[in-house]
Amino acid sequence: MIKSNSEQSRRSFLGNLSKAGILGITGIVPAAAKAGILPGTAATAAPEHAFLCKPYLQYPGPHTISVMWLTSRPCYSWVEYGTDGQLSKKAHRITNGLVDANNRLHRIELDQLEPGKKYSYKVCSKDIVSFEPYKLTYGDTIESATYTFTAPDPQKKEVSWVIINDIHDRPASIPHLMKLNGDDPYDFVFFNGDVFNYQSDEQQIIDHMLTPCGDTFSTQTPFMYVRGNHETRGKYAREWHQYFDNPGHNNYFTFNIGPVSAIVLDTGEDKEDEHPVYAGIVDFDAYREQQAHWLEQQLQSPAFRKAKHKVVMMHIPHYHSGDWHGVKHCRELFGGLFNKHKIDILICGHTHKYGVYAPAKGEHEYPLIIGGGPKDGYRTLIKIKADQHKLVLTMLKDDGTKVGEYTV
Ligand SMILES: [Fe+2]
Repeated sequence: MIKSNSEQSRRSFLGNLSKAGILGITGIVPAAAKAGILPGTAATAAPEHAFLCKPYLQYPGPHTISVMWLTSRPCYSWVEYGTDGQLSKKAHRITNGLVDANNRLHRIELDQLEPGKKYSYKVCSKDIVSFEPYKLTYGDTIESATYTFTAPDPQKKEVSWVIINDIHDRPASIPHLMKLNGDDPYDFVFFNGDVFNYQSDEQQIIDHMLTPCGDTFSTQTPFMYVRGNHETRGKYAREWHQYFDNPGHNNYFTFNIGPVSAIVLDTGEDKEDEHPVYAGIVDFDAYREQQAHWLEQQLQSPAFRKAKHKVVMMHIPHYHSGDWHGVKHCRELFGGLFNKHKIDILICGHTHKYGVYAPAKGEHEYPLIIGGGPKDGYRTLIKIKADQHKLVLTMLKDDGTKVGEYTV
């Protein structure tokens, strides 16, 4: 077991620790975070060594869970974990021979997990008081509470997940919508874009996503997250991706769990790249073309062709969504491929009007589902349950009433 060291010297060094610091435990201090907020790699120090969020789980690979969290000060971090309630293993992250350290945004992969096995874990962050070339001085170690998760099982017979889209900076919507699920089990949560209006800074990601997710589910169940057109906007849009870790570590990705093979596309912005509001610093046409090429390969892959249920998820629907450039470009690039390779269902957001659209010959020859949002009365939770025989999609409105259902 790893223990905190240098606690006394650290105390005397700082002289004026907060209550959370003196306790040496899991204090999450948003106020301190607000005061001392730093870019992810900043070398300067916030006054207090604290967690800025609970650990949150991501799903980068079939037998892997990434544990991510943020601290107020640069530190050395690791995860203690194990089965049967033990925390006998330790994981940290190594890049090119160097153990990740002197950072505030922590992403540590727990790999080679036993499928379906229950694991316990906690995260630990040891403050780095000073970092000289041959003399590194550690301070306090803070530890999270102990949480549990069930290791993903790509071979399982059934898979279920819930989808949230178009939250638009309304953090209370996350617990509200998740509560509609009740005690129904699910393997992961999928965010289908526009969790934010535009990206301002790290504190927004903490307050409007990581904290409500952490308080609701993400310490024990991973989430995946694809951008909508709004995550591409604002001065922090270029840092956004660092906070998340999808399958294959990419913004667009695929996953295979049990009877489902899913492809997730990043549909980019809604207007043409040359539009003045983008000021010449976006290039989504080329990005969508790159994805179309990748999509064709994925649709032809043995995993996708053999899958019982072929699912695609993306933010902007290429039908029932007006005729702006982004919609039309998605239709032109992706639409024909979806029909040719016979996907079973497409799940989107974006329009803020929920709807279940039956297959339409010559257009989308598969059901197209659009989740709503972000205002009260329009928000939805989409639930997917798939087994060897069928895939059932249910859409709940934010008052709990069922507003859509489709069985493939
Ligand atoms: Fe939206």
